[in-house]
Amino acid sequence: MASAVDGINSPVLERFDLCDPQIRFQEALQGLTLYPIAAGEGVPIYYMFRDSRKKGASVWKEKGIRYDITVIPPQVLQGEYIKTIGHFHPHKNDQETYSEYYEVLQGKALFLFQKNTPDQDVEEVVFVYAESGEKVFVPSNYGHVTINPGDETLIICNLVETHFTSDYTAIQEKQGAAYFCVKEGKGETFIPNPNYKNLVIPKIYQASQWPGPIPAATGKDLYDLFLEDPDRFEFLK
Ligand SMILES: [Fe+2]
Repeated sequence: MASAVDGINSPVLERFDLCDPQIRFQEALQGLTLYPIAAGEGVPIYYMFRDSRKKGASVWKEKGIRYDITVIPPQVLQGEYIKTIGHFHPHKNDQETYSEYYEVLQGKALFLFQKNTPDQDVEEVVFVYAESGEKVFVPSNYGHVTINPGDETLIICNLVETHFTSDYTAIQEKQGAAYFCVKEGKGETFIPNPNYKNLVIPKIYQASQWPGPIPAATGKDLYDLFLEDPDRFEFLK
């Protein structure tokens, strides 16, 4: 099924029974980058395979947790590393939005997590670098953008509650998250988005330093950990 996407033939994808991907086109990033990018209508930039369970793995649906895969080929657009358009999750109670769990299946990821003030300015920004096999928890109340800061196709999975709908408006209204990740030499630099009044200094972590409810060194991936004990992931609901 990996051949469903031209040019993407990772063995990582062969493990799953993938549906046809939802494709994000370049036009969706327009207005969300540091410098204007070409319209890019119909030019794919990343692919989302929702609910990528293996055959027979019905427990995911029964427990109301989804396993999605996102494939982000490397690219630099007007100096900025390719990224997802970014979103927040809705509230599940008075205090908390739904959380999420990421894992890198291939390549290197840079996750931008952003907490906003009640008037939708920025309050906190965290960058978390993660490599293949590393898990990264997205706590409640953080919007998030996934960046591919490398030259290899990034493949990540996420575990998330099935029924809610993500909110893209807060990031759209500010024309991006609070920082842009710009290629500089072989690395990157972070440029603040001037549409936010608050200038917060980003905190930078490696995945191994970033806390989450699942211990980092389990020796198992999130898919198998879920099947082993689905109730362990009740915190996502
Ligand atoms: Fe999310």
